[in-house]
Parts: sequence; structure tokens; C-alpha cells
Amino acid sequence: MTNRSAQGWMPESWRNKPAKQQPVYDDLKSLSDIEKRLREFPPLVFAGEARNLKRQLAEATVGRAFLLQGGDCAESFAEFHPNNIRDTLRVILQMAVVMTYASSCPIIKVGRMAGQFAKPRSEPVEVRNGTELPSYRGDIINGMEFTSDTRKPDPNRILQAYSQAAATLNLLRAFTQGGYADLHRVQGWNMGFVAGSPLGERYQALADRITEALAFLAAIGFGENSVPELSQTDFYTSHEALLLPYEQAMTRVDSTSGNYYDTSAHMLWVGDRTRDLDSAHIEFLRGIANPLGLKAGPSLSPDTLLRLLDILNPNNEPGRMTIITRMGSDQVSDKLPPLLRAIEREGRAVVWSCDPMHGNTIKSSNGYKTRPFDSILAEIGGFFSAHESEGTVAGGVHFELTGQEVTECLGGAQEITEQALSDRYHTHCDPRLNASQSLEVAFLISDSLRRSRHGLGLGVAKAS
Ligand code: TRP
Ligand code: MN
Repeated sequence: MTNRSAQGWMPESWRNKPAKQQPVYDDLKSLSDIEKRLREFPPLVFAGEARNLKRQLAEATVGRAFLLQGGDCAESFAEFHPNNIRDTLRVILQMAVVMTYASSCPIIKVGRMAGQFAKPRSEPVEVRNGTELPSYRGDIINGMEFTSDTRKPDPNRILQAYSQAAATLNLLRAFTQGGYADLHRVQGWNMGFVAGSPLGERYQALADRITEALAFLAAIGFGENSVPELSQTDFYTSHEALLLPYEQAMTRVDSTSGNYYDTSAHMLWVGDRTRDLDSAHIEFLRGIANPLGLKAGPSLSPDTLLRLLDILNPNNEPGRMTIITRMGSDQVSDKLPPLLRAIEREGRAVVWSCDPMHGNTIKSSNGYKTRPFDSILAEIGGFFSAHESEGTVAGGVHFELTGQEVTECLGGAQEITEQALSDRYHTHCDPRLNASQSLEVAFLISDSLRRSRHGLGLGVAKAS
């Protein structure tokens, strides 16, 4: 078996580089025992699936597909329940139907699910009433409760995270292949949403057109259960590759290609805080053959972006890189165009995806970390118009969302107010769009999506 790894790269070569945002374990013996066990565990995903995703993302670089990535900010052990997995999947599928129709192109569905456990934090420690404890870094590392026991990084949590990821992925595979994702069912849920939404009449016309399209298909012989494409869908997983000992232990040589794949998820991304050129995280990611995401905040210069791409995608392979921009609604029109121009000038193939969540976090007057629905929409709007004026391709969107009716983001048709935030504020980290808000976003961006495909001359008929 040949091993075709990047030059000078080994699964452990990140250990010679500065690694930010890593927990300090006191029991190193137990950590290394757990890494050893994990190396023997079955991979969660198969390399061939990661290659399929990369092929589909390559289509998104030129506007023939569109990426929809979403899920929890942080998955947790406490919220691990089949109903939560089902409901998050359901809302992503509902959004995907609307977006497929609006864009007239395939929507690539990628969950922030089955492995999204580790969180970067701005402070290594948290102080409450004079007591200082390590910050909460996600359930794969420590617990949220403010006691010295729970906040101590515990390597055993890595095994629990693996098993939760495996069970989650198993259910996702069953649902998406076993009939739950049937297009008629999903469209039925959407009609129910439109009927019950306070602003339902805004969405009715589009929803009706989708129903008509399905009825037309049925009339010509493509009804329920007639072709697998109508009842099944590909669903991929992703998370931030933050906890490097875990990612390393899940990295294996694929026997078909001879390449290393991180088998903890199909797609891995690097965060805005850990993407320094010479960092351990960039070193780790450059050697795995999975599709990669790169979070780009307002501090990323065009020059650094190009140098990162030199390292992560030296052969400019389309589908390898997705740049997930998170500028904030007030900065997107200043900060995004210079990046678009640099990439265009240098001829790099990337998927541009918009994360309208992380640049729009505020504190409500009653102390909740929240995000206004309108700022989220405004950043997406700024993203589409920047692409329109630069002549580049808007390739995807990235959301923190949940299928539950939480009250974490302000606004939307339900008009969630600051006072209402406390009703069902359940997140372990950042505020998520709830099921209704998520679906509303899909309806509200459908015009931008359609127009962006128009500009590409991609066979979307003009309404006369
Ligand atoms: N298989 C197609 C696709 O994935 C159509 C489809 C079936 C679909 N079920 C779906 C699309 C659910 C979106 C959501 O695009
Ligand atoms: Mn987050």
C-alpha cells in the first residue's frame, strides 16, 4: 500500500507546531491510552464518501451546486436524544427542498453533526465569585457545570464523544436512506409550516409552486417510491477539527487511494482563531485528503488567505476548499470583496460559503448572548450582492440551527423579543436559529439564490 501523504507530513506532525485552544490534561497516561484505543476503533466515515462530497463541492465552485451546512454550535451529551437528531435533520431537509427549487441546482447537505463537540474559547479560565476554573471547551473535553470536578479536562469524554458521533451518524444514515427524507414528506412538512407561520402568506406562493412541481412529476410517472432519488438523499457530516489528539487518532490511510483521511467526519474545518499559517491546526489539515473548510473573519487579509490556500490546497483541486466567511452584517460589504478579488485574480477554485451567525453575536440588555434575525439576513444579503458585483460565485451558507423551537435568536416571524429569550434558551454555546427561523431564512433567501444562478446563465427560466 503506497502512502501518498503531503511532503514531510505525518498524522502526528502537528505536535511540533504551536497548538492553540488545546485542553491541559493532567493524566497524560490515560490520554495516551485512550488515543491508542481510538486508533483501533472503526472509522466513522468511508474515504469514498469524502471523495463524493469533494466532487459535489467542486460543482459548487462553479455554481452548479450549492452548499447548505448547518447544525448545533456545540453538540452536547445532555441533549443527545434521537428526537433532537431527527428534528435537526428534518429542518435541514426542509430548507434544502426550498433551496433546491429556488436555485434549480442540487443542494449539498452537510450537518454540523455527529462530532461537533469541541469549542474554542476567548479565555482559558473563567472566574466566578473569586473562584477560577478552566473554561468550558465542549463536552468532548469537559463539562459546563461550574465545579472543579466537571471543568477538569477528562480524556474519557473523548470515547463518549466517539460513541455519540457513531450513534448519531447511524441514525442519520438510516433516516436519509430509509424513507424519512422522501421529497413528498418533506414538502408536506413545509406546507404545514407555511400554514402555521404568522408570515405564512409570504411563503405560500413558493411552497405552492413546489407542490405543483411534485404533482407534475407524479403525473408523468415519478410519484412516491418510483425512483430512489425522490425518497433518498446524501447527507454528510462536518465539525471543527479542534481537538487534535482526537482527529489524529481517527486519521487512517485509505487503501483505495493511499491517502490519509480523517475518518471522524466527511468535512473538517479550521476556526478563525486557530488558522495561523504556522499553526498545529493548519499542519494537521494539510495532510488529510477530506474536503476542508476555512473560517474567514474580518481580520483575514487577502495575502494570508492565499498563503493558507498554498499550504492547504497546493494543487488547486476544486472542491478541496470551502471558505466560510463570517464578517458581520456591518463589515461584509467592506471585507468580503478584497478576498473575492484576490482569489479571482489568482485563479483559485473555492466554494464561497456565508456564515451569517458568528459575526452577528450581541448581548441582549438582559444578559443573553443572542443574534438578531435581521442581522443574519443582512449578512446573507451583503454576501450575495458582493458576489454579484464581483462576478464571483456565491456557493453556500452555514448556519447554527436546531430543529427545536428554542428562543435564542431575536426576531423572525415569531418576533422573539429580549424578554422571550429566557423561555427556551438551551444552547451550550452560541445562539441557534430555531426550526421556524431556519425555514424562514430558506424562504427569504430564495430570490437571491435564484438571481445568483441567473447571473451564471444556469438554465433558470426568467419569469415573464
Ligand atoms: N435526492 C434528491 C436530493 O438529494 C431529492 C431529494 C430527496 C431531496 N429527498 C430530499 C432534496 C430531501 C432535499 C430534501 O437533492
Ligand atoms: Mn458557534
